[in-house]
Amino acid sequence: MKNVVAIILAAGRGTRMKSDTPKVLHNLLGTPIIFYVIDALNNAGVKDIITVAGYGSPLLKRAIGRRTKFVIQKKLLGSGDAVIRAKAVLGSGFSGNVLVICGDTPLVKYETIKDLINKHNNSGASATILTAKLKDPTGYGRILRDDGKSVSKIVEEIEAGLYEEVIDEINVGTYCFKAKDLYEALAVVKPDNRKKEIFLTDVIEILHNKGRRIESVLTEDESSAIGINDRSGLAEASAVLKKRILDSLMLSGVTVEDPATTTIYPGVEIGRDTVIRPNTVIESGVTIGQRCLIGPFARLRGGVKLDTEVEVGNFVELVRTTIGARARVKHHTYLGDAIVGRDVNIGAGTITANFDGVKKNRTIIEDGAFIGVGARLIAPVKVGRRATVGAGCVVPKNKNVPGGATVVGIPARIIRKQRV
Ligand code: UD1
Ligand code: MG
Repeated sequence: MKNVVAIILAAGRGTRMKSDTPKVLHNLLGTPIIFYVIDALNNAGVKDIITVAGYGSPLLKRAIGRRTKFVIQKKLLGSGDAVIRAKAVLGSGFSGNVLVICGDTPLVKYETIKDLINKHNNSGASATILTAKLKDPTGYGRILRDDGKSVSKIVEEIEAGLYEEVIDEINVGTYCFKAKDLYEALAVVKPDNRKKEIFLTDVIEILHNKGRRIESVLTEDESSAIGINDRSGLAEASAVLKKRILDSLMLSGVTVEDPATTTIYPGVEIGRDTVIRPNTVIESGVTIGQRCLIGPFARLRGGVKLDTEVEVGNFVELVRTTIGARARVKHHTYLGDAIVGRDVNIGAGTITANFDGVKKNRTIIEDGAFIGVGARLIAPVKVGRRATVGAGCVVPKNKNVPGGATVVGIPARIIRKQRV
């Protein structure tokens, strides 16, 4: 997207979160809120982004790294002031469009951002506002229209009168402006409101009074508008995002037995005809093949890759682990930093001791191996092809079990060896 620079407003303290962490760094299904905003902008083709940081800016800068440019708003004088600070990075000669988006609205879809920019460009408006109609508009800026038509003003909730409070069309906090018009209007905005802040939203009335054109795009999906201001807003956004993810997986051919108790983070791939049973949590960075059976009560963490027809049952935790086709890990097991081959059976209560207190070590279990119940495998260690580890056995680190061997006891000793 040429000639569009985005400004993410993220300097606010997030007072209502009652937290030491900057609001936009709180996790929404495992990923910081602001990352969703950056991804949506990138997916809409907007690559030139300036983040306005303030409260907790070193933390924010570290988290975002080089993904956006930065400017610091030292005194939190309001969303309008935040946009004024960004001008230093934008350059005073910039004559393109500025897309402003709040860092606390992670559910705005990239398609919507594209629509907003397109409408803005095609109409030649000074400002194009993203709006939504909400059953409960409490807390949001309300959209005022002349004769119910073109937008004339945004009224913030704390300034709203009785007749304005009942307006159900709200300001999502995402707008596209002609940069010149935006900064011209911002220059005359005064902090004459109850919060004593420079409201970005006051720009709309100023532009309207000058006879400039204001356009709007109404989001069809009202849940996209959620602005996270407190912990219950975070939970609300989490529920919406969770449903979006589960719906798209179900559409692609995955059975989710009980969506209410299943949490799947963004960035999880699951093959068709896989069944996810209740009370399962699957975190970002997990790939699951076709026809697998997961849960109930399974937890799959980052870096897990399951081939086809793998079974992972109740009270199993997997992290950074690859599992081959048809392997079964059915009960009370922890596998971390493991590579498990095809047709392996992992008995109930098997534990890989992957962390030695200093570093994480690898466990390799080759094709067709059988691990008995309650086995403990102290990494780094390898169990060879079609080997058997007896029930309750402890396999010490570096004491690899040869292919075809059967080991038992604590520490493991070989009692049999077959050719494989
Ligand atoms: C804001 C809008 C409101 C809209 C709502 C949508 C204003 C005045 N109001 O209200 O119309 O319906 O978002 O969610 O903009 N920020 C700064 N610097 C500051 C103050 C705020 O960067 O000095 C940032 C915050 O980090 C936040 C964003 O601006 O990401 C909006 O601020 P917030 O306090 O959440 O405003 P809302 O009351 O939600
Ligand atoms: Mg907000």
